[in-house]
Amino acid sequence: MDVYEAVKTRCSVRAFTDQPVARKVLERVLTAASWAPSSGNLQPWHVYVVTGSRLASLKQRATARALARDPGDDREYPMYPADLLPPYLERFSSAATERYKALKIERDDPDRPMKIAALNSQAFGAPAVLFCYLDRSMGPGQWADAGMYLQTVMLLLRAEGLHSCPQVMWTMYRKTVSETVGAPDTHQLLCGLSIGYERENALRARTDRAPLTETVTFIGS
Ligand SMILES: Cc1cc2nc3c(=O)[nH]c(=O)nc-3n(C[C@H](O)[C@H](O)[C@H](O)COP(=O)(O)O)c2cc1C
Repeated sequence: MDVYEAVKTRCSVRAFTDQPVARKVLERVLTAASWAPSSGNLQPWHVYVVTGSRLASLKQRATARALARDPGDDREYPMYPADLLPPYLERFSSAATERYKALKIERDDPDRPMKIAALNSQAFGAPAVLFCYLDRSMGPGQWADAGMYLQTVMLLLRAEGLHSCPQVMWTMYRKTVSETVGAPDTHQLLCGLSIGYERENALRARTDRAPLTETVTFIGS
């Protein structure tokens, strides 16, 4: 698979089969992804990959919290600015509409937050979840590095016939996650990444993208 195809076929999949992902495939992907760039080559990411009975138990604990309408652990970083202005607000709303349509959750369903948290807590059925942490001493530059690293992981997963879904939602239950993986308090959870094989015929949230003219300015010839 060439890079263009990997980029074009990567999308957030929210319906996985329970087919396990071979450890050697995950090791191959993560070995290659370690070549992702980082400012000063700090390689600031700390990654845990959870599978099998440990993942089953984590999913069960997180789902129980979701179903109990637990508001979650105090957030350590805001995923979005408090005031989401245009055009970001429109992009956010249209992605959310697509996402809920694919998950068959009505917009006015009073249980929507709980249902979304529960589906996320099941990692959408994925048999592997990668959790990416950063040392608390790290700043915005290293958070950007971690994003580049995670995108590298996601593209390499495509080359292995796998799909993924990045999930900030795991930060809601970050204490449960940290207990499971044994992350030290000096590390902060950036997000989870569900990994697996996509379920056939599952509805997908087909997100759009802004035209190039909205996001890119060419200067010079
Ligand atoms: C850092 C990050 C966190 C995300 N968190 C969630 C999440 O908690 N749950 C979810 O269903 N999707 C999550 N997403 C997926 C986005 O909704 C998705 O990337 C966006 O709508 C574009 O769609 P696409 O990935 O299918 O191209 C996250 C994406 C990123 C990059």
